[in-house]
Amino acid sequence: MAEFLRSSLGPMGMSKLMINKFGDTAVTRDGAVILDMMDIYHPIAKFLKEAAKSVESTVGDGTKTTIILVGELVKRAERLLQSRIQPGVIVSGYKKACEIALGHLKRLSKPFSINDPELMRRIIKNMIGTRGIEGAIDHLTNLIIKAINVVIEFRNGKAIIDRGLVHIIKKPGKDILESELIKGVVIDKRLAHPMMPKKVVNARIAVLDMALKVDPFKHLQPYKREIHISGNELVKRFIDEEDEIEKDFVRLIVSTGANVVVCRKRIGRVAKHEFAKAGVMAVERLLKDERIEPVVRATGAMRVANLQDLREGDLGHADLVEERKFGKDRMVVIEGGKASKVATILLRGDPHQADEAERAIKDAVAMISNLVNEPAYVPGGGAVEEALSIAVRNESLKYPGKEQIAMQAFANSLEVIPILLARNSGLDPTDIITELRAKHVGGMYEYGIDVFSKDIVNVIEAGLIEPLVVKEQVLKTCTEVASTIIRIDDVIDRRYAKRHRGEMP
Ligand SMILES: Nc1ncnc2c1ncn2[C@@H]1O[C@H](COP(=O)(O)OP(=O)(O)OP(=O)(O)O)[C@@H](O)[C@H]1O
Ligand SMILES: [Mg+2]
Repeated sequence: MAEFLRSSLGPMGMSKLMINKFGDTAVTRDGAVILDMMDIYHPIAKFLKEAAKSVESTVGDGTKTTIILVGELVKRAERLLQSRIQPGVIVSGYKKACEIALGHLKRLSKPFSINDPELMRRIIKNMIGTRGIEGAIDHLTNLIIKAINVVIEFRNGKAIIDRGLVHIIKKPGKDILESELIKGVVIDKRLAHPMMPKKVVNARIAVLDMALKVDPFKHLQPYKREIHISGNELVKRFIDEEDEIEKDFVRLIVSTGANVVVCRKRIGRVAKHEFAKAGVMAVERLLKDERIEPVVRATGAMRVANLQDLREGDLGHADLVEERKFGKDRMVVIEGGKASKVATILLRGDPHQADEAERAIKDAVAMISNLVNEPAYVPGGGAVEEALSIAVRNESLKYPGKEQIAMQAFANSLEVIPILLARNSGLDPTDIITELRAKHVGGMYEYGIDVFSKDIVNVIEAGLIEPLVVKEQVLKTCTEVASTIIRIDDVIDRRYAKRHRGEMP
């Protein structure tokens, strides 16, 4: 896995074309997606995948770095094992090295302030710059910053960003540069009936987890799917009855005071018409929870699955609900009240691009949310890894023989990051590493590789920075996982035991 991901590290890394067993394809450099699409059978590989994904889900970044670093730590441990160093000694050496690295990392970090917009811009740009959406980086960065300004809250002087409040809607087509930010919750549906009001002020919103339509066949299943009705009079009564039921639905809903209806499933023809007549706005067929939940969260509505249970208290509230045109598409926007803290980014562009942009935006928001939570950053572009490598190597000299060797292996492993950043951008890793080491030994620990200018630069000045939490999480997880793997001396896999007549595969 580490070998496979090595060539994808960093902004100049290569993408992978992934095809899953259903034939779905994705072209991506996002470590989490690559891992998701890889069929992994080996139990240790699965364990590694879970660990890397846990890093990504807590801090939103660092998946590839985690796997590559674990690969390096394990590979070097293997060599040490061959020269008869005990696994226990290697593990304790790695753990000591990790502690030294974490301590040094804290000392290298600089405080982050949300009041420094230039810094925030640089961080976001740098983050989404590694994601294969080159032409749109500036535009997306602006959208992300706007979105963050909408959702950010200050409690007791501390900034809080709830990443769940930044929504993304993908509408493939047009150009990714035409993506835009909308304040409020957006439902990607047009109104259920053209005669409905396009705009409702002081909205009282009913969220229905059901269909507003009579399905006479539904109750017959699974026994019978046909009803025979003969005679004109009976047919007419049957249809009228259906219509009456739908009219009753509408009367009931309107009587609670609702003027907007958000319906998970279909709304019947008659019900739509009745809603329109009553001046009620309705959208139907949201189907998915991920479309309904934002509405519920932003309006305080209660989801109701049985109309008899609908009460005035279940209705959600918003200052304004309006159907708006976005290019050729019409969508419903909910504004005001709690929804005023929600930002929706409407993504355009070709589907692959939009997918990649969606993930990049989510990760960038996660990163900024991490940064306001624990406001510190460290130099990127391989600088911090080089600095830690040197710190661990120096410190290791204080420890006895074999442990010292393990600590040095840890120090050497860290250098894999600057080495790969250099190699993936076409630079000669040996030249770069010697130059980088020389700079760092001379105390210039803010120097790293800028793969775009292909030079060793002061990365903080160049804006190549990373949240402290990401690097901390990566170091901790890598040491943990590598230690566990080193301590395993056998894998017993009983899945195929029967087929192989009890033999171990
Ligand atoms: N312009 C740049 N020049 C050099 N290095 C960079 C630059 N931009 C980012 N990096 C470095 O690239 C590395 C991150 O690469 P990448 O985002 O591909 O991997 P990841 O974060 O481990 O995985 P993923 O983002 O898929 O979860 C970091 O070490 C970062 O400092
Ligand atoms: Mg990354």
